[in-house]
Amino acid sequence: MRINTYSEYEIAYRKSVEDPEAFWTEIAENFNWIKKWDRTLEYNFDEPNIKWFQGGKLNITENCLDRHLEKLGDKTALIFEPNDPKETYRKFTYRELHEQICVFANVLKDLGVQKGDRICIYMPMIPELAFAVLACARIGAIHSVVFAGFSAHALADRIIDAEAKVVICSDGLNRGHKQIPIKSTVDEALENCPSVEKVVVVNRLNWPVKMKSGRDIWYQDAIKRVNSDCPATEMDAEDMLFILYTSGSTGKPKGVVHSCGGYMVYAGYSFLNVFQYDNEDIHFCTADIGWVTGHSYILYGPLLNGATTVMFEGIPTFPDPARFWQIIEKYAVTHFYTAPTAIRSLMQSGEEHVLPYGLDSLKVLGSVGEPINEEAWRWYNIHVGKERCPVIDTWWQTETGGVMISGLAGISPLRPAHAGQPLPGIQPVLLDGEGNEIAENDKEGYLCIKFPWPGMLRTTYGDHERCRLTYFSTYKGYYFTGDGARRDENGLYRIIGRVDDVINVSGHRFGTAEIENAINQNKNVVESAVVGYPHDLKGQGIYAYVICHNQPSIDEMQWIRASILETVVEQIGPIAKPDKIQFVYGLPKTRSGKIMRRILRKVAEGDTANLGDISTLLDPMVVEELKAGVVL
Ligand code: WT7
Repeated sequence: MRINTYSEYEIAYRKSVEDPEAFWTEIAENFNWIKKWDRTLEYNFDEPNIKWFQGGKLNITENCLDRHLEKLGDKTALIFEPNDPKETYRKFTYRELHEQICVFANVLKDLGVQKGDRICIYMPMIPELAFAVLACARIGAIHSVVFAGFSAHALADRIIDAEAKVVICSDGLNRGHKQIPIKSTVDEALENCPSVEKVVVVNRLNWPVKMKSGRDIWYQDAIKRVNSDCPATEMDAEDMLFILYTSGSTGKPKGVVHSCGGYMVYAGYSFLNVFQYDNEDIHFCTADIGWVTGHSYILYGPLLNGATTVMFEGIPTFPDPARFWQIIEKYAVTHFYTAPTAIRSLMQSGEEHVLPYGLDSLKVLGSVGEPINEEAWRWYNIHVGKERCPVIDTWWQTETGGVMISGLAGISPLRPAHAGQPLPGIQPVLLDGEGNEIAENDKEGYLCIKFPWPGMLRTTYGDHERCRLTYFSTYKGYYFTGDGARRDENGLYRIIGRVDDVINVSGHRFGTAEIENAINQNKNVVESAVVGYPHDLKGQGIYAYVICHNQPSIDEMQWIRASILETVVEQIGPIAKPDKIQFVYGLPKTRSGKIMRRILRKVAEGDTANLGDISTLLDPMVVEELKAGVVL
């Protein structure tokens, strides 16, 4: 299943387009199926209805763990590097990881968890998070991991939407020099979540936390009551494996649903080929398991391939900006996968932090989450990869399950700031404004995918119509990514960015409406409008235009600003705090009441010379006021 040369890539790609079913059949045969599937693919993009490997029976954890035990039982599967470099690391062999997962799965079973139940996991990056995720998969419970930086309010929304029966959390978490509570946030969220029956609490910080009797149990106590024998539950290929919430252009995040069979095949296949994984490689992906990158390329992808994967609890700048390089040296990491925002921030700290570390083990560098600018790409290539390691820019989405457009490391042509070519099995197209396919190269358009692939989302949890409307209705017969892209003269894709009302802040995705809803909860605010603007470190920053009840004085603006930030932290979390707030009297609206965001974006960018046609505005004077406004 591994492609080794560029011509093998071309052959695989051609086959995958000419006969996708034969192509994916052959790939899927590399996995363990309890029963083979009857039908490789059934689909239509109208409803949408997408079914891969129908009739197939499997359990993904048997593929991640059990099948490796005979040959790789003593191989390190997971390395846990704690936040504080002085704390000892933990390593788990495949055998040990298997045991831990069976134990955790039995704890869940003891609590009455059954196949199909939803389990919300709200945890720091500690080994028990990995155990929890895989324990759910072991028994067919659907995991919904919520990034531990989200607020109680955001957590509650996600628990309610999924009707989760159990929440798995910790007492608190380490983040650089700070310790942050988790359990108390869960308690606050659960005030409004009637579906939750049990809470499993992992002890990380030895903090005294309140335990609600009958509901809350300590993980460290519960594991004493179970054994490590837990057969894997047989799943249908199309059963749900997990839900992962992500932001869209409306206010409410949606639960992207991935399936057991198709996701497994795509996570395993894409990991092997994009990273060109070899048996002894050590893979370090710096994402949080709260995002899809962590699901696919810390856990499932590496484990499906019998790899060693590093899980890091901390942040790149603690105790100093050499933390990543120190970890690479410590474990002789071969594959390093991070986000442009981290690269830019470490670049700013200077090469002197990289130079002292032995990075000779590195073979492949990866980037993900947002467009990587050429300067950051070159710095990464020169100072981290020493110009010896291919730098792959991997484009994909929560919805796609795995990497879609990227060079295959060391095989494909690379061009800075370009994601490159599609993986075999992926058929991207650029559409023009009318929805016609653009055939020529050296052109820009809306990025769509015209044929299904196994890792694609199947629905949005509890609201299939929303899935149809968001992804399959803009351009009939296509999956619409929400991104704009350019295909260069050689057919390499460069992702330009979102074309919908989604902004990408340090690789985190937010709907502008979602942040507006949060800001509007502040009692001083009448109305708000949020746009993204170019930000040196974060890629995009959050710029909020706010109308207050009475136009505040400069002094009042200061405290209202602080109060708005607090509201956003309460509603969503610190990651969604606006970078800039501008107090205005009015917003540029058309006669039909629609906000002209184009103007807001231009003003936010400081590009006010050419605002385009403003004659359709209800009150064109608003524009002058916007230009002269106070920005805090
Ligand atoms: C959006 C998806 C998939 C992992 C993390 C983000 C942007 C992602 C790239 C890239 C340019 C990228 C797109 C995409 N994006 N990777 N290599 N180059 N843009 O997942 O939160 O679902 O966000 O991130 O805009 O649509 P996500």
